[in-house]
Amino acid sequence: KRPAGAPDKSLAKRIDKVGVIGAGLMASQFALLFVRRLQVPVVITDLDQARVDRGVAYIHDEIVALHGKGRISQDEANRLQALVTGTTDKADFADCDWVIEAVFEELSVKQDVFAETEKHLSPEAILATNTSSLSVAQIGAKLEHPERLVGFHFFNPVAVMPLIEVVNAPATNEQTLSTAMVIAGKLRKNAVITRDTPGFVVNRLLAKLLGEAMHAVDTGTPFEVVNSALDPFGLPMSAFELLELVGLTVGAHVLDTHHAAFPDRFYDSENLHTLAEHGKIFDRDAKGKIKGFDKGAVKIV
Ligand code: 3HC
Repeated sequence: KRPAGAPDKSLAKRIDKVGVIGAGLMASQFALLFVRRLQVPVVITDLDQARVDRGVAYIHDEIVALHGKGRISQDEANRLQALVTGTTDKADFADCDWVIEAVFEELSVKQDVFAETEKHLSPEAILATNTSSLSVAQIGAKLEHPERLVGFHFFNPVAVMPLIEVVNAPATNEQTLSTAMVIAGKLRKNAVITRDTPGFVVNRLLAKLLGEAMHAVDTGTPFEVVNSALDPFGLPMSAFELLELVGLTVGAHVLDTHHAAFPDRFYDSENLHTLAEHGKIFDRDAKGKIKGFDKGAVKIV
């Protein structure tokens, strides 16, 4: 086991190909970042071809948008697009050096996805999970080589948020940790190494904030009042806008995980689950500008 402190960066594994499991919005956003910053082939997979195609199309469109904003040349855009491919065949992951997942935030799903993928990987490949609050050790419980798994937690929107939490699970070895830190640097993100504890650091704080916001509305403080409560801190978004940005289902899941781990310290709001089913909190215009609230059947004032 490595000594405490920063890992030796000279141990980092060279990355010549990236595999991304999951082609949803978060996974597609970081797949784009990998191809742009590492300039290596990135292969994306998901449950079916339609999901894969949607993910690849999103990335291709974002590359076109980067060219449209003058950030990359036409040649660069063509080259980046050609580096991104989709597949439903895990055998295409055989030569990946770094494989990262962002599938449904359910422990058994992530465990099975990794156990199944590991069969197709080189023994040298490093694995990463973008879990927002599950235990990395438990996610790796069905792996033959859990020492090659690390948490690599991005924040929404991936292109803009400057931080990555690198989660150092008890089994994670130094080469894995070192590779994660070097990759984070190449992605031009600040990386912090966290313990493998529910919510790591950032979501532990966020769960308090969002949980207390929900608790306030659940106990009768008007929604509009709570929505303005962060104004004095100069944050770019209100608690409820932040909830919509991370996704109401993800937000509800993060609160569930924290409440299950620390029932006395974290609040779990039934209303947040109802909002997640409703799918939104705000009524927005075509450009996404907030027009008012749309809380559906949620019984809050
Ligand atoms: N998705 C992708 N990109 C987005 C985006 C989105 N939802 N929203 C904004 N952007 C991009 C824009 O395209 C723009 O990029 P560009 O510079 O390349 O053109 C850039 O962000 C800035 O956009 P705007 O000029 O519209 O900037 P704003 O000043 O309105 O800021 C914001 C938008 C960056 C989203 C800002 O409101 C913000 O920082 N909000 C807080 C976000 C936050 O706290 N995220 C952490 C959530 S916690 C989490 O993700 C953890 C998870 O596990 C739950």
